[in-house]
Amino acid sequence: MRNRLVVAIVGVVALVLAVHDIPISNYLEGVERDRLATRLERDAFIIAGRAEESLEDGVAASDTGIAAMVDRYAVEEQLRVVIVDDAGEGVAGSEPGTIGQDFGNRDEIAEALTSGNPNTGERFSNTLGEDLYFVTVPVLSGDDVVGAVRISAPERVVSDRVANRQRGLLGVALISLAIAAAVAWLLARSITRPLRRLEATTAELAGGDLTARADIDDGPAEIRSLAGSVNSMASRLGQLVARQREFAGTASHQLRTPLTALRLRLEQLQREPDGGGADRGEVVDAAIAETDRLRRMIEGLLLLSRAEDTAVGPTTVDLAAIVRDRAEYWRALADEQRVTIDSTTPAVASVLAVPGAVEQIIDNLVDNALEVSPAGTQLIIGVTAVAPRIELHVVDQGPGLSEAEREHAFDRFWRGEQAEPGGSGLGLAIVRQLAEAGGGSAELRAAPSGGIDAVVSFVPA
Ligand SMILES: Nc1ncnc2c1ncn2[C@@H]1O[C@H](COP(=O)(O)OP(=O)(O)O)[C@@H](O)[C@H]1O
Ligand SMILES: [Mg+2]
Repeated sequence: MRNRLVVAIVGVVALVLAVHDIPISNYLEGVERDRLATRLERDAFIIAGRAEESLEDGVAASDTGIAAMVDRYAVEEQLRVVIVDDAGEGVAGSEPGTIGQDFGNRDEIAEALTSGNPNTGERFSNTLGEDLYFVTVPVLSGDDVVGAVRISAPERVVSDRVANRQRGLLGVALISLAIAAAVAWLLARSITRPLRRLEATTAELAGGDLTARADIDDGPAEIRSLAGSVNSMASRLGQLVARQREFAGTASHQLRTPLTALRLRLEQLQREPDGGGADRGEVVDAAIAETDRLRRMIEGLLLLSRAEDTAVGPTTVDLAAIVRDRAEYWRALADEQRVTIDSTTPAVASVLAVPGAVEQIIDNLVDNALEVSPAGTQLIIGVTAVAPRIELHVVDQGPGLSEAEREHAFDRFWRGEQAEPGGSGLGLAIVRQLAEAGGGSAELRAAPSGGIDAVVSFVPA
């Protein structure tokens, strides 16, 4: 990603430079040619002015200072100077053999001699075998043309000068590109470095180290917020794993007790197949009771782990209808205990709950209540709206629990001192878990009647 970002930024800068510099380069070429033309024309006029006197007198060039002047001038660069008289015959020049040579057949010289006007241009020189750039000016004495001066240079001298300027321009462009690349690299690094670190943290997390945390003060706001999310995900995972571990630990510990009891009974039967002193039937019954307890614990654990799986979201259910149905179901058993079950519900009470949760909740609460209800007492199952929630109440007239016990009652495997043998201690834990899975909550309160008022509050649908 870093490299791609750098390439993109440098590419854009290069494009901008190209769009900007190509017209400038063309413009520079024009300017450079104009400048050279102007300079050569000026020089030619100066030389023409100096040569005027000699030419009008017809004095041989070599006798005057013209030759020396021309030599001095042409030392510079690769300029060639030719001075001709009014007949087009060379009188002085920077090249040997100029004197006496006939230049009248050169277009530019003929033109200057006949029209008396300066001219500038390019042509192929047969003598030199290359393109020639030239400036020709007439030498005037009053109105008479007494000769002409031509300064010429190979075309490549001109293009070299232009290329020089263009190289300068290119140099500036390259420096701009280098700066752009450096800035892009720094920018890209400021983005990718925190991303890399974040990636390293997630790799550590994926590798199983749930204590790994990302730096939330590093990089741009979006990455910091991503780091924050990764961290909260990591802590949540850590908590979940710790809870699962603790759960598995307690569960296996708790399962060991009924298993040990079961083994003791079986060993007793093995030692004394006829039951020994004790009644053989009693030993077998006790063993069966232990297997029942084991079964209930395992069922409870399965239920708890299923309730923790929030893949199934809450749906709308009618709490009132379910209460009426379950009250009917429990009434037969309650009758045997001479306990009356009364349910008070509105016609409909729509709440959010995980499918099957409300039935489980009521069954667990009524099971607990019946366990402690003395004969001749009443058990009330009620549904009331307590804004913004809808509450389920299961009220018994049993012995109740102290405040500390009411809080502990929801702990997994916690059982009261007076609890009948055979329970798993998981019932209320399941109730709370199922209530919370639907967005609700569960608690035990002291009922005015002295017993327990088990309350589960639901989110209305
Ligand atoms: N209505 C109640 N009245 C008195 N004690 C209760 C009541 N409900 C629950 N308890 C106490 O809370 C403990 C935990 O209940 P629960 O989680 O359902 O497990 P279990 O019923 O298997 O013992 C019970 O053992 C009991 O001591
Ligand atoms: Mg119970």
